[in-house]
Amino acid sequence: MVKPALVQLIIAQLPLKPNGIHGIFHWARVFENGRRLAGETAARMDVIEYFALLHDSRRFHDGGDYQHGPRAAEFTAGLREDWIDLDENGFSLLLEAIRGHTDGRCEADATVQTCWDSDRLDLMRVGIAPHPARLCTAPAREPDVIAWASRRALDNWIAHETLEGWGIDWRAWAEI
Ligand SMILES: [Fe+2]
Ligand SMILES: [Fe+2]
Repeated sequence: MVKPALVQLIIAQLPLKPNGIHGIFHWARVFENGRRLAGETAARMDVIEYFALLHDSRRFHDGGDYQHGPRAAEFTAGLREDWIDLDENGFSLLLEAIRGHTDGRCEADATVQTCWDSDRLDLMRVGIAPHPARLCTAPAREPDVIAWASRRALDNWIAHETLEGWGIDWRAWAEI
């Protein structure tokens, strides 16, 4: 279970604005995309939740910062003991998902693939339609799923239940 204090710690150290295109609203949609896929991919939701919160935590800018995956994995490794409640297998899946999410590849465990798809399904927030050939799991390639996620991405949909579950005062960030 994710501790709200971890969420605050992640936000406090962000190099970028928490309400930007790689910030809290994106993270919450990634988590909910993952929840939609996980029923069919049998992915581990505990891993997806930490992935959603941490994968973009060490971006230095909103452009092609291709090293932000490895940097976030290094940051996550340092949080392992005090903050991350996963067994060894779950933690190694989490590190792989975070480290590799900037590579654009697909060969991986179903949980890792589901993490990557959950992130890619939110690409319409920056005007990029997710291409089925770049998605790793069958449910993510479903036209209905792409359309659903893309609509939410385009609207910068606020996944408020998820944000509240993480203890984020999303109203304060939505108004800025
Ligand atoms: Fe990223
Ligand atoms: Fe992302």
